[in-house]
Amino acid sequence: MGLSRRVCVEPTAERATDLVSELIKSIICESTGARGSAFVALAGGTTPHALYQRLASFGTGGEVPWADTEIFFGDERDVPLDHIESNYNMAQRSLLDHLPIEPGRIHPMRGDAADLVAAAREYEQTVRRIVPSEGGSLPRFDLVLLGMGGDGHTASLFPNTSALEEKIALVASNFVPVLNRTRLTFTYPLINAARNVILLVTGDDKAEAVSLLLSEDAQKQKRVPASGVSPVDGLLTMVFDAAAARRATV
Ligand code: 6PG
Repeated sequence: MGLSRRVCVEPTAERATDLVSELIKSIICESTGARGSAFVALAGGTTPHALYQRLASFGTGGEVPWADTEIFFGDERDVPLDHIESNYNMAQRSLLDHLPIEPGRIHPMRGDAADLVAAAREYEQTVRRIVPSEGGSLPRFDLVLLGMGGDGHTASLFPNTSALEEKIALVASNFVPVLNRTRLTFTYPLINAARNVILLVTGDDKAEAVSLLLSEDAQKQKRVPASGVSPVDGLLTMVFDAAAARRATV
């Protein structure tokens, strides 16, 4: 088996963003070159905002074959798609509005649905219909982009939540006690089936979670759900800025 995990520490958040934007560009070019399309799941939160603006600047110049890309979301908050807190909304304003992608190739999660269990099931069906599984039983994204919260959550896989235990469903409706909200999220089986996963984490407030993430602590997956991200037959690239990695042994 080849390299399955690599860790990159960049001096600043801006350099980390630049590196990830270049990685995404090459993953999309390689995937469309090899298979005709690229299947990408985007992250939410605040960290990717600058990254999406950077990617948008590659926009229509033809550097990235965006028209052959299908866009999904790894998680969504329980708000309408035009809400300021919606992950889709943030990606739309900072990236998708600037790209030559047909609207039918963009697949928002309905985090505001009245029945979130049904919404999770429907999103899973959409993923299964569109993203090829290539002989296996699970759809394989070319890229799942993730961030991490200071509490170690990734996508909306928060500590002490039921979605962490999910082995069958690929998308879950996950009640998050600390937020007292329910979010839609990819589960580990779907994330870990991807060809490439990029975890981009910047900022001082993430230092403790990053240090646990990179430690040998056997219990870390419960405390830092991001440590359950481990592609079965793909590459995990973790990109940190120096502030986020300052307490870690890399
Ligand atoms: C979300 C996410 C989440 C995010 C982390 C980091 O909806 O919040 O997708 O997993 O990536 O919470 O968020 P920040 O970038 O805001 O720190």
